Amino acid sequence: MSLDRITKLSWIYDLYRLGQSPQLLEEPDKIYQALLEHIVAGFDARSGSLALQAEEQSNLTIVAGIDLPPQVIGCSVALGNGVLGWVAQQGQPLLINGDLDPQKYPGIQRKREQAAPSSALCWPLKLRDRVIGALSVNRPAEKAPFGESDRDQGTAILNLASLALENIQLQLDQQKRFIELQAINQKLAEAQDQLLQAEKMASIGQLAAGVAHEINNPVGYVASNLSSLGRYVNDLLSLLDACEQLDNSLSGEAPELLALRALKEKVNVTYLREDLHDLLAESKEGLERVKKIVLDLKTFSHVDEAEWQIVDLHQGLESTLNIVWNELKYKAEVVKEYGTLPEIECLPSQLGQVFMNLLVNAGHAIEDHGTITLRTGHEGDQVWVEVADTGKGIAPEHLGRIFDPFFTTKPVGKGTGLGLSLSYGIVKKHHGHIEVDSTPGKGTTFRVWLPLRQAVKLGS
Ligand SMILES: Nc1ncnc2c1ncn2[C@@H]1O[C@H](COP(=O)(O)OP(=O)(O)OP(=O)(O)O)[C@@H](O)[C@H]1O
Ligand SMILES: [Mg+2]
Repeated sequence: MSLDRITKLSWIYDLYRLGQSPQLLEEPDKIYQALLEHIVAGFDARSGSLALQAEEQSNLTIVAGIDLPPQVIGCSVALGNGVLGWVAQQGQPLLINGDLDPQKYPGIQRKREQAAPSSALCWPLKLRDRVIGALSVNRPAEKAPFGESDRDQGTAILNLASLALENIQLQLDQQKRFIELQAINQKLAEAQDQLLQAEKMASIGQLAAGVAHEINNPVGYVASNLSSLGRYVNDLLSLLDACEQLDNSLSGEAPELLALRALKEKVNVTYLREDLHDLLAESKEGLERVKKIVLDLKTFSHVDEAEWQIVDLHQGLESTLNIVWNELKYKAEVVKEYGTLPEIECLPSQLGQVFMNLLVNAGHAIEDHGTITLRTGHEGDQVWVEVADTGKGIAPEHLGRIFDPFFTTKPVGKGTGLGLSLSYGIVKKHHGHIEVDSTPGKGTTFRVWLPLRQAVKLGS
């Protein structure tokens, strides 16, 4: 570097600016390279290299190079090895013109081949007496070789480069900490959502369990009464049969007989006989349905007792469908296109919550009347469950946010915006994923992919 160039304030200012560059956080490697290029240009050199030493490491790492093979970047250089390693270890600059005395510099195996630079300068980079790296610049044979004054001026200048490098390091550390903090923050937010949702589910679960318990008792005696009633009705009907036979065998005009026949006409015994059976059968069917709902409510309320089980997902889907049926029945026709599903290892009650969220969302998306199609299938070692609706769809600008906790487009009181975020968490816990495909005005399809088996079971 010629003296007038060293003193060029703009060169020094540019060096300082490089350490402040906004590009730094995105591409630190480019900044190292830019810094080296700036110094190589400043020293009127052709090639060079820059190696840094992290505080906790003993080796240097090459972070930038000019005219170096690209694979050299990232390589490590042991202290004392090569020119960079030597200056970093000694803490002294080195001027090389011609061959080095191997006696004096045993660590430097420098073979000066024809294409090699004829003149080289190498400095340790120091910060408050601590060596943080080393930098070398080389001039080809056709240029004037470096002199001692270049070496000494460079020593002063490179303090500035060290400061710029320290600044880069500080900013990178700060960014690293910021990213770490962000990750911790995210984890905290997720934990809080889970807690909130768990609380919500627990209170729904308690309510469900309470209702199930209350209904269970009357359902029990209604079922028992209904079966006695069936038997009594059969007895009464046989009695009626006997009366009718008697009636048919009797002739005469006794007033009691005439009154009996008139009464028979009036109550329409034939119709009664048929309808009684239908009524009983219908009541039994209704009761079976109530029993099933109670069972579903009980299953649903056992969310806390979640444990990994190998189950048939169709059963879980049916159970969930029963629970939400009331919300869906006026809104949508539910079509089932079930494929073959191998049993999968899962937390059934938690997957029930996922399907419930998807079904309720589908119902909410349908404004008037539409169709909800449930499809299932499997591919390789994965199964999938699809909930497709013909509802209003999701606006493209919302698509990226629907899995965010608390994101909702529903009015206050109608949605908390936790359904999909919870579902996402549950599916992730199963090492699966959720796909969504939506066309505004046409409908939305959610597809949940789940592996058949869990290699690592995450906490329930
Ligand atoms: N099938 C769907 N069709 C259209 N929009 C949907 C559908 N499913 C989800 N969304 C959109 O995604 C948002 C977030 O859904 P999510 O289930 O997380 O919350 P929510 O339904 O609003 O409230 P919550 O489920 O907590 O009661 C919804 O408010 C809605 O805008
Ligand atoms: Mg929802």
